[in-house]
Amino acid sequence: MEIQFIDLAAQYRALKQDVDARIAKVLEHGRYIMGPEVREMEQALEARTGAPHCISVASGTEALLIALMAIGVSAGDEVITTSFTFVATAEVIALLGAVPVFVDVEPDTCNIDANLIEAAITPRTKAIIPVSLYGQVADMDAINAIAARHPGITVIEDAAQSFGATYRGKASCNVSRIACTSFFPSKPLGCYGDGQMNPLDMPAILAPVINDVADYSKGNRLVTGEAFKRIPKIRFFGNSALSLLTKIASGYWGVADSQTGYTAINAKALAAIDWDHMYKRYGQPNDLLVRLNIAEMRVVDVPVEPVYNVGEKSGIRVRKVLFSIGWLIVRLFFYRLKEKYIIRDFHPLVFFYAFGGATALVGLLFLVRTILLWFTQGSMPEMSFLVTLFSFSISFNAIGFAFWFDYQANRHLNPPITHRDVTHRQAPDPIDP
Ligand SMILES: Cc1ncc(COP(=O)(O)O)c(C=O)c1O
Repeated sequence: MEIQFIDLAAQYRALKQDVDARIAKVLEHGRYIMGPEVREMEQALEARTGAPHCISVASGTEALLIALMAIGVSAGDEVITTSFTFVATAEVIALLGAVPVFVDVEPDTCNIDANLIEAAITPRTKAIIPVSLYGQVADMDAINAIAARHPGITVIEDAAQSFGATYRGKASCNVSRIACTSFFPSKPLGCYGDGQMNPLDMPAILAPVINDVADYSKGNRLVTGEAFKRIPKIRFFGNSALSLLTKIASGYWGVADSQTGYTAINAKALAAIDWDHMYKRYGQPNDLLVRLNIAEMRVVDVPVEPVYNVGEKSGIRVRKVLFSIGWLIVRLFFYRLKEKYIIRDFHPLVFFYAFGGATALVGLLFLVRTILLWFTQGSMPEMSFLVTLFSFSISFNAIGFAFWFDYQANRHLNPPITHRDVTHRQAPDPIDP
């Protein structure tokens, strides 16, 4: 008899009705990215674990990485953990340039031996990552007590293999300052698939921030050779148009695909942004770019592979969004001009914008006059036509110069990166414990 490691099909058959109904609902509303189910799941996780805040990210590995970045782990720091785990636990420590310090496990539970941790602590220790394996939570009281004796050390439970377990009446995921779990299909609580992003793109997005080349780095799906073929046309052109307008509004002339959600940010930029007043809907990334520019943060654009499901449709109501985001971008443009070039510093490009705007208005009025006279008198009013042409040409010149000055003033905030060839990447190792 063959016994499967994990029989997900049997599990599906048992829950088929419920699962099919919920999947159908998602397909109907079409909001696959950050749709209402995401918050619903986070709330269910908060209720289940008792943890005050549950935040979903792309994978357990990414959760560990984000947790370490959030507490400021960087090159040269040490993080205590165990080698008896999946590679992700130690890999994210190394990815940040920090050193994983391995402590042995208890022979009966295979979890980190809390009695050996204190001896491994040095002035460089920033965190302890106990891994709760086989559904057994590590000895968290003892581990938390050690961290409490060493201010500056944060405990992060790797609860990828222990979701649903309890420890002295408390749920795993709620027994340390931070906890990370995984919904890999074979985990205690598995999902269908492996989260969102092509994992091969993650290092490229993180590298500029980790190497301090940029304060904020973002994916750009529009620049790979395949982009035009792979991205549904309406999204490609819509996104390109928004990107162009966002360049003008934000001053990041070298940044495109403004709407992408794949980003990395450092602590300095995080602290520089007023998140409470950030636009909360589809225009959020555009608002963020403008705020980053005002705060003089360096931003880079990293080519990433566009990933779309077969027949995937956007849930965005184009007509409604066009109006709201168009108006937002106009407001952001004036906000940045005021903050950056009038209040914090002064740049004569504001005169060029003002002159360009005023002459465009004159051109527009004379265009209307020309058309009206042409229709009522039956012949083209030459003077009116010449004034229209003259006004528009001055306006284009003035606005063109303003763009150029803005581009020059922001070049240092757009550091160049070496673009990657996304067609020759290796497939990730699919093995999971
Ligand atoms: C202990 C442990 N930590 C972290 C991870 C990483 O989780 P994910 O596969 O969701 O990235 C896994 C499983 O893969 C794991 O077993």
